[in-house]
Amino acid sequence: MDDLLDSPVASPDLGGAEPFPQAAADTVDAQALRGSSFDFLSRPGADLGAKAAAFHDWAQCRVREGVFPYGKRLGGRPGATAELTLLDGQRSAGLNFSSQEYLSLARHPQVLEAARAAMERYGVHSAGSTALAGNVEESMALEAELGALLQMPEVLLFPTGWAAGFGAVKGLVRETDHVIIDQLAHNCLHEGARAATSHIHLHRHLDADHVERLLKRVRQRDAEAGILVVAEGVYSMDADSPDLARLQALARAHGALLMVDVAHDLGCMGPGGSGHIGLQGMLGQVDLVMGSFSKTFASNGGFVASHTRAIKEYLRFYAAPNTFSNALSPVQVATVRACLRLIRSPEGEERRTRLMRAITALRSGLTERGLTVLGQPSPIVPVMLGNDALARLASREMGEAGLLANLVEYPAVSLNSARLRMQVMADHSPAQARTAAWLVADGLERASASLQR
Ligand SMILES: Cc1ncc(COP(=O)(O)O)c(C=O)c1O
Repeated sequence: MDDLLDSPVASPDLGGAEPFPQAAADTVDAQALRGSSFDFLSRPGADLGAKAAAFHDWAQCRVREGVFPYGKRLGGRPGATAELTLLDGQRSAGLNFSSQEYLSLARHPQVLEAARAAMERYGVHSAGSTALAGNVEESMALEAELGALLQMPEVLLFPTGWAAGFGAVKGLVRETDHVIIDQLAHNCLHEGARAATSHIHLHRHLDADHVERLLKRVRQRDAEAGILVVAEGVYSMDADSPDLARLQALARAHGALLMVDVAHDLGCMGPGGSGHIGLQGMLGQVDLVMGSFSKTFASNGGFVASHTRAIKEYLRFYAAPNTFSNALSPVQVATVRACLRLIRSPEGEERRTRLMRAITALRSGLTERGLTVLGQPSPIVPVMLGNDALARLASREMGEAGLLANLVEYPAVSLNSARLRMQVMADHSPAQARTAAWLVADGLERASASLQR
């Protein structure tokens, strides 16, 4: 067995970062282990401030007990090791599996130089929405370069990935139209659907047969309505992927459009960084593709790609987060362009290889320790922790031992299927990944023991 798996918790390889020890795990106020943010969504009462206060009291109890791992602040660059400050001011340092920096490009010299040059030329600003005068020449170049990677001629930039997802659905779908959407699709896509129409049909996760039944039913009832089918390349909580060819064929057969969100796979997976669409041999064949620059492209921002100029220009004016929000700043555009150049170069291939090596080491380290890892190899590695109380304690234990990773709990995932969503980057070494797996298993064991006392 690999000796890193046997290393004691006090001395894991944290790449030089020191963990900050905190209190023991078995004296937690029970309120901090109960309930969820969902409990505060439908409270009656005329006082809006009181509703916020009820949530805040519950969250503060969790903060006091060290089991509210949200709202953290990063102390420096999002590297393989990092330091985070929690809401209560406690610091946590160690191996960083909580940043969305999949190809480790945030401090690449070429990326920094591109950002500096844009800053010199344009200053730091965003001068308006893309519907007015917010674009610069480089925005057009970025749209063309992304279009070349995706083999889709028309690309529209958005100020964030969330805005792209919401804006694409809301911008295309009218009140009388229908949206058929995977139940686990990202919040921006569900929110976009809710804002657009009441005709929303959730389908079981990845279940293309269910999509087919829904398409048939909608078409039988309504031959005239538009239908948008919405999926992701890699699902952000389960790290799994749909059969894109089947979904596209189904959409086409029923006069619907398919849109795929590639936030977590474009650039960091697939041939030339083409993501799951490339891996599945579907480049240039999906109706609509949207994505984000905040995972692999070291920036903020998002895009929607299509095959017709009409859809691009329609969205420019009917996707409100584009029309009524300022464009990506020139510095962000330059950053994304520099990342894209690297992604499409041999260096990008080398970074994807390193990333996949670390992913494989992490996944096998976790399964060797008897843990359940969801999905397929991707930069997202979700590890099941179990019920929410156990997961909260385990997450605290791991933070104290020097592992930084995000806890995802109900209602972001179903009740008592809380998980650690580990996010891997090219700069993680396989040894660091194995140490992280060891820290997860150990933290979970200690949390479990403290709950049984
Ligand atoms: C699948 C998916 N789509 C869209 C988004 C939104 O992207 P951004 O954070 O860049 O706004 C995210 C980010 O969390 C995501 O996971």
